Amino acid sequence: MKKKKIAVIVGSLRKEAFSRKTARALMKMETASFEMEEVKLGDLLIYNQDLDDEGKPPAAWTTFRKLMKKFDGFLFVTPEYNRSVPGLLKNALDVGSRPYGESIWDGKPGAIVSTSPGRLSGFGANHHLRQSMVFLNVPTMQQPEAYVGNAAILFDEKGDLIDENTQKILQIFMDSFVSWVNKIVPDNN
Ligand code: FNR
Repeated sequence: MKKKKIAVIVGSLRKEAFSRKTARALMKMETASFEMEEVKLGDLLIYNQDLDDEGKPPAAWTTFRKLMKKFDGFLFVTPEYNRSVPGLLKNALDVGSRPYGESIWDGKPGAIVSTSPGRLSGFGANHHLRQSMVFLNVPTMQQPEAYVGNAAILFDEKGDLIDENTQKILQIFMDSFVSWVNKIVPDNN
């Protein structure tokens, strides 16, 4: 049986991003049935519908849209900007959702982890992202939720997750995500 391909989508460009460190920790977890790959969002020009309407989408949009087709599901790891989703990630959702009728998100399962050095753990971003998932028709895992707070004290100087409690929680989260994806995406050979 082929492994299911999961795009890992991180909402930060920052070199030392806690969200990327969290994503890397998730990618190292035991998930025998997943092949996970981080997708870069930094080259995507801000969405402008004219460029699609005129048939002149930027090359980076086309590359992103083609690349995303190969994935069976999405794992979003997002920081919180001003109690919402960073523009980087929202822009990627927008670019991937168009042209109308050709959304790369439609019907594929997803899961969301929010991160923050603060104690509210990116709750606002997590739930704003869920709002977009409804419209994009990404069946998004409801439980367990994953809010990674106090992120500044969870990683060592190499960026590895060292907090055992967070490791346990994220492993349970990933086990559940595997089951969630397997419920929605039929096994391929
Ligand atoms: C933030 N930060 C932040 N944190 C938070 O918990 N809630 C928030 O609403 C915001 N708002 C916000 C806006 C902007 C523009 C910036 C740059 C930052 C702080 C944020 O959590 C912190 O910078 C994280 O380190 C960003 O995530 P990464 O890059 O570490 O993944």
